[in-house]
Amino acid sequence: MARSQAPYVCQSCGAVTAKWAGKCESCGGWNTIVEEGAPPPVGAGATRRVKGRKFALEDLKTDEPSPPRRPTGVAEFDRVTGGGLVPGSALLVGGDPGIGKSTLILQALGRYAQSGERAVYISGEEALAQVRMRGSRLGLSDAPLHLGAATCVEDILATLESGPPPGIVAIDSIQTLWTAALDAAPGTVAQLRTASFDLVRYAKASGAALLLVGHVTKDGQIAGPKAIEHLVDAVLYFEGERGHHFRVLRAVKNRFGATDEIGVFEMTGQGLAEVANPSALFLGDRTSAAPGTAVFAGLEGTRPLLCEIQALVSASTYGTPRRAVVGWDTGRLAMILAVLDARAGIGIGAADVYLNVAGGLKIGEPAADLAAAAALVSSLAGEPLPRDTVFFGEISLSGDIRPVPQAESRLKEAAKLGFSRAFVPAGTRATGLALTEIANVSELVSLVPARRPTPVRAKLES
Ligand code: TYD
Ligand code: MG
Repeated sequence: MARSQAPYVCQSCGAVTAKWAGKCESCGGWNTIVEEGAPPPVGAGATRRVKGRKFALEDLKTDEPSPPRRPTGVAEFDRVTGGGLVPGSALLVGGDPGIGKSTLILQALGRYAQSGERAVYISGEEALAQVRMRGSRLGLSDAPLHLGAATCVEDILATLESGPPPGIVAIDSIQTLWTAALDAAPGTVAQLRTASFDLVRYAKASGAALLLVGHVTKDGQIAGPKAIEHLVDAVLYFEGERGHHFRVLRAVKNRFGATDEIGVFEMTGQGLAEVANPSALFLGDRTSAAPGTAVFAGLEGTRPLLCEIQALVSASTYGTPRRAVVGWDTGRLAMILAVLDARAGIGIGAADVYLNVAGGLKIGEPAADLAAAAALVSSLAGEPLPRDTVFFGEISLSGDIRPVPQAESRLKEAAKLGFSRAFVPAGTRATGLALTEIANVSELVSLVPARRPTPVRAKLES
């Protein structure tokens, strides 16, 4: 006889175990395992065969034109979704609590409703009066948006099915959802999974585009992410650094578009303002040239994005040098420092090193290596880099500077913003800017500051 599945489920990763434990073996989370109502035994059909219904198989080819996408009218949001929401699709928007997910969704839905389409916003967290107050703050009071405050999926589905299907329906947030069909407590993975599945099924059947909002837990996962990420067609993250006004919407999964697009917003007193030209914004508050700052000509999706990388190298006063990075990868910094040490012999290894990407932006591109190295060398030398210069290039372990994709659009953006020179990997061709081709890190060190930096170790000993 088939054994029934164990009722203990990790609330963080969804792993199922036979018995309770303080620590989840799969994700390492503490105190995340909870007893849930036992699902029906797996393989029950093997002993008692249920006769299925036959369905027709179809061709890939179709004469029906695909239904048009539904742009919300918030251009930065539409850019990340790949040109608007696809009818019948489900999209998950994740982010830290308080980052602005509800604001973003209300703005997108309000704008969509203003264009004469039917949009439904179901809030499980806030009372309708609170949603209305937010709406009036966002200047959306007159938007013909249909609001509801509910958490029970059966109620939500009954309400949605009683009217014409909306173009877009948003549920804020999935963590508050529960279904009466399960005994498990609201907020458990089983509840989350079943409730989301029912909503996704409604979206597929009715053609409504479904927007689910989900909170991210401390370690950067949407609570119960494994449980629902596979159910949805797209997963977007809304991120931003505390203390900064910029918010970045990033696609991490998208069945209908590119995953490397970002949308940039600024949080203002009247909600989120779209930032059509992020480079100007991220470089906007550049002060006088100081040692240790380099402008990186980056790329986010199809859009070039210029930002400033700041480095501070100082003699370490403790035995172990300190390394702190904001907006970049710590491992990547360690690699750049090791390469500068080994291939250019500048002896930076014993120093304290701080690296920061200005404006609260997060960079994932290896193309930022050259800009980071230039900022480090400039800080070590105490000499500012030329103000009219941008940098890009990937550094390999051998110390060589490797070419990066789409050099031309990076340089075009730099020229547009008034830069006249660029330090680039050897072999880069472009017009409009004076290019300095850099073959390896030794060349960078000899070219960047006017004088060669003194190794930190020598400084310490003197
Ligand atoms: P919210 O959308 O409620 O965040 P989430 O749904 O992700 O939890 O946004 C909350 C924050 O946004 C709150 O701290 C205040 C700020 N905010 C503004 O600065 N301006 C505004 O117009 C609005 C509506 C919110
Ligand atoms: Mg919210």
